[in-house]
Amino acid sequence: MTVARPLVIAIDGPAGAGKGTLARRLADYYHLNLLDTGLTYRAVAYDLMSRGRRLDDREAAMEAANNVDPGRLDRSLLSAHAVGEAASTVAVIPGVRRILVEKQRAFAERPPGAVLDGRDIGTVVCPDAGVKLYVTASAEVRARRRLAEIEAAGGSGDLAGILADIRRRDERDMGRADSPLERAADAHLLDTSEMAIETAFLAAKAIVDDVLAAGNEA
Ligand code: DC
Repeated sequence: MTVARPLVIAIDGPAGAGKGTLARRLADYYHLNLLDTGLTYRAVAYDLMSRGRRLDDREAAMEAANNVDPGRLDRSLLSAHAVGEAASTVAVIPGVRRILVEKQRAFAERPPGAVLDGRDIGTVVCPDAGVKLYVTASAEVRARRRLAEIEAAGGSGDLAGILADIRRRDERDMGRADSPLERAADAHLLDTSEMAIETAFLAAKAIVDDVLAAGNEA
């Protein structure tokens, strides 16, 4: 008898492509645990910022990473734009990545399995994931979505500034030496530039259902 391994769905892509919403929908639908790995990097950045430490203080950053509990991440505390920018800076520190990747892997292995979204899930954290998705959208579309989110929350912003931030973040996330954002060779590409979230969810669900059906036949 073979024991089924927990199903892992790995979702990678740049900031603002719709990974988070898609990950939540898939986790709900397939009854899987959910980890937004960006929050683990944000938690490290937040810890440094609130202790008045520099973002390039490797020792303090690794200490903060050791204290991260993937099961207890406060999204409302960590969602600020400045924390995301700072997270992208601490994410270049290899020691921080090593510690967080280990915690993310342990999370993924817990039954019944999990959806993880981030930048290096299909390439580094869970290279054996049952399903890999690379979710992207043009920088312009991502900037417009971000502005709409800010406005829906009662705030205001300027499109050119948001677009410049998105391009800078892409460069940092794709250009770093350790685990840059890239599409795994076996990841399914989902370009959501022209898709509503429901369409993107149905496309992702069709991919996962295919993989599950193939597994049941084997
Ligand atoms: O997805 P997010 O905006 O919450 O991520 C914040 C930053 O964390 C992102 O710019 C890069 C980093 N990150 C990473 O390096 N690897 C991951 N798996 C997830 C996020």
